[in-house]
Amino acid sequence: MEIDPRGLAADLCNRLIIGCVVPRPIAVVSTVSVDGMPNVAPFSYFTVASHSPLSLAFTVGGTKSDGTDKDTLRNARFAEDGGVGEFVVNVADETYAAEMARTGESHPFGVSEFLHAGLTPAPSLVVKAPRVGEASVSFECRTTHIIPVGTARLVIGEVVHIHVRDHLIDERFRVDADKLAAIGRMAGNDYVRTRDRFEVKTAGR
Ligand SMILES: Cc1cc2nc3c(=O)[nH]c(=O)nc-3n(C[C@H](O)[C@H](O)[C@H](O)COP(=O)(O)O)c2cc1C
Repeated sequence: MEIDPRGLAADLCNRLIIGCVVPRPIAVVSTVSVDGMPNVAPFSYFTVASHSPLSLAFTVGGTKSDGTDKDTLRNARFAEDGGVGEFVVNVADETYAAEMARTGESHPFGVSEFLHAGLTPAPSLVVKAPRVGEASVSFECRTTHIIPVGTARLVIGEVVHIHVRDHLIDERFRVDADKLAAIGRMAGNDYVRTRDRFEVKTAGR
């Protein structure tokens, strides 16, 4: 099949891309509103933007059913645009997959998805937004860019603090992938584990 995406409806573009770009890592993004209400939601349009300065990126697409901006975007925006300008990326893992998925359900602004999903807000060290207590790895970020890409918004933040559970990491900063047990998103309700791996040897490595 040959497809011209420029003539394709946005929902079909999304269906196609989430089936082809797989598996996607999942950022469980926790934020806080200007009046102090914590929020958490998953984003699988997610990657590393730079390792110097260490920066993470995720994309907020679409809006809530009432047409307003998703709470994560609202909170991660710069202060001059009505947000807090901070967020935490928590790495999704097997231990809280069901709770993570529940945080993807839409709620009116001001309803805490932490409570709804059964996740624990834990204090961050540098930013105001809480991290997810169940996560083994959390990156505290300050928003540096919000880039419009058509109807979506690419949010980039510089990592200002990292929490990694001690048993996952050695003194050379190597992370034990089996212990981390990160999960990835496929299409629909499908997810993958990251424990089935294989090695590809290259010259010198
Ligand atoms: C695993 C998973 C990944 C998701 N990835 C994205 C994404 O990359 N971008 C997006 O806009 N919404 C994504 N969603 C949907 C949002 O999480 C959902 O719209 C959520 O209600 C937004 O919450 P908020 O209003 O609290 O920000 C995803 C949902 C799930 C379950």
